[in-house]
Amino acid sequence: MIPSTLVIHPARSPLKGAISVPGDKSISHRALMLGAIAHGDTNVSGLLVADDIEATAQCLRAMGVPVGRLDAPVVIVRGVGLRGLAAPARDLYCANSGTTMRLLLGILAGQGFRARLTGDDSLSQRPMDRVARPLRDMGAEVSGRGDRCLPPVEVNGGTLRSINYRSPVASAQVKSAILLAGLYCDGETSVTEPYRSRDHTERMLAAFGASVRRESLTAAVRGGELTGGALTVPGDISSAAFPLAAGLLAPGSSVSATNVGVNPTRIGMLDVIRAMGARIDEAAQALQGQEPVATLTASGSRLGACEIGADLVPRLIDELPVICVLAAVAQGTTRITGAQELRVKESDRLEAVATELGKMGARVTELPDGLVIEGVERLRGAEVSGRGDHRVAMSLAIAGLVAEGETVVTDAAGIATSFPGFVTVMRRLGADIRLV
Ligand code: S3P
Repeated sequence: MIPSTLVIHPARSPLKGAISVPGDKSISHRALMLGAIAHGDTNVSGLLVADDIEATAQCLRAMGVPVGRLDAPVVIVRGVGLRGLAAPARDLYCANSGTTMRLLLGILAGQGFRARLTGDDSLSQRPMDRVARPLRDMGAEVSGRGDRCLPPVEVNGGTLRSINYRSPVASAQVKSAILLAGLYCDGETSVTEPYRSRDHTERMLAAFGASVRRESLTAAVRGGELTGGALTVPGDISSAAFPLAAGLLAPGSSVSATNVGVNPTRIGMLDVIRAMGARIDEAAQALQGQEPVATLTASGSRLGACEIGADLVPRLIDELPVICVLAAVAQGTTRITGAQELRVKESDRLEAVATELGKMGARVTELPDGLVIEGVERLRGAEVSGRGDHRVAMSLAIAGLVAEGETVVTDAAGIATSFPGFVTVMRRLGADIRLV
């Protein structure tokens, strides 16, 4: 557990350096889960070592899957096959991790036992009906609290039938839960989304030997066993977003992040910041397994406002809070719409950004589904709350680097869920940021 308060002073000199960011969180969850239900060993390099992934590992271990230590250079998962999981003796605790709970529900829907999934206070307020409904259509019993099926969630798996699901929301967690359940069905299970969400599950399922079909907004899988293998997890662009944003904001800076995953379904932020006038270079592109990687370099830039609508949101969903920081000091008025999903993340990120950045002098108006941000010349340091939400806390810390005076971010311990080395990495670049 890292201390929960950050103290930040404005950057006195440009930020410089090349850093590596931790492994991609989405891909790390999937590597452990698919490895667990595959036949044979899966050897994972570059896995994210952070609380969210530890939650997934613990849940899998509780169902009898041997998962090696996460801080080993190569993490070994001894797969037990689709139907080899054991009924857990106690609740499966998913901590702060929505991905853990939603994807596991998909796997558990196909098991012949009952399980109960719990989470921390934040996860206990996050809707599970979006996965419960299609999984019930497939034949599983899933129940939680109230209409939105809030955790704790109980699932009683069984024989599943394939469905062709039209999801009302563009969510990779929903899509992945259904595709994982689809492995337990005869025939093909498909999910069609309103906009395309991240496709790591489809790519990894294919690498594990599943029969995957993809066509515009539809992803489909045929039931059948998986075979484990070797995987390398790229650096997480959602973590790289913070030091790169700092590099854009601090005049004269040059910040490089090496080996960052640049899957096309994840790089909406690059498109947006380029449109804002950011100087961001992409070099050393390569394919690492099924995922593209590159070195990204951000240089101090004069930024203008941008427009972000629903079609773009899934490609930058986790980067929106830090994009708001950029918009807060960009010239002009930024309008973000179609982003109501931000209200059901680790915190209500629309409200959190509007309130907390507002305390620093940002001009932010909340919309039901987005934000309007009028750029100001300078932010001012203030005491703000990270809301126990890793991405809110790190975004506010980046804002602190370009604010006048001292910024104190309380309730920032959540950073450990995705980027435990955040402060160390930022200090290495020359940022004046410390934990107290
Ligand atoms: C994730 C999908 C996104 C994202 C989350 C991780 C995933 O959530 O915000 O951090 O790994 O599938 P939604 O699918 O709910 O949009």
